Amino acid sequence: MSLTKVFVAGFIVVVAVLFIHRAGQDGRPAPAAYPPTPARIAFEAERQAAEATAALARRQAEAAAAVAARTEEETVLADAPGRAETFGYCTACHNTALIRRSAFTRDRWDELMDWMTEKHGMTPLEGPLRETIVDYLAGQYGPRQRGPRGGNPFLN
Ligand code: HEC
Repeated sequence: MSLTKVFVAGFIVVVAVLFIHRAGQDGRPAPAAYPPTPARIAFEAERQAAEATAALARRQAEAAAAVAARTEEETVLADAPGRAETFGYCTACHNTALIRRSAFTRDRWDELMDWMTEKHGMTPLEGPLRETIVDYLAGQYGPRQRGPRGGNPFLN
């Protein structure tokens, strides 16, 4: 028998075996659905109760976090002149997390003040107060400060 014939015969055997194997699986009856046992019912009830407790705990934790966010102290911001003004003006709508995670240039902070007014209805920030706040932000949350995001590695 030539090598080719051996290969062809082998191939046919493999295909046949696979076919028979598959056919056998397809033909199997579906497992019977038994009614739940008392133990199973008790287990399910316990699981649902545990889930409800966990969901309640989650909601409570969220509520506590929301309260904590609202009761932030000024000292979460970097200590420098202008902190009180910034904290007072900037925490009416969101906490300081948005500020603390940012690392913008003075120009970008300045633009952001207008964006906050145009896009989100912030009372326009003008005059000396604007200078104070933008100076503070650029000085403490500028690209040279390595914030949680790492800042700009090319400016350090
Ligand atoms: C009138 C409400 C309001 C006030 C006041 C306000 N902001 Fe915002 N600010 C927003 C809203 C709304 C967003 C968008 C929040 C979001 O995308 O989840 C935002 C977003 C930001 C962001 C994220 C911008 C970005 O692209 O990553 C920064 C930083 C920020 N504010 C800083 C400030 C500073 C600094 C002040 C004070 C000068 C201030 N905000 C005052 C409403 C306000």
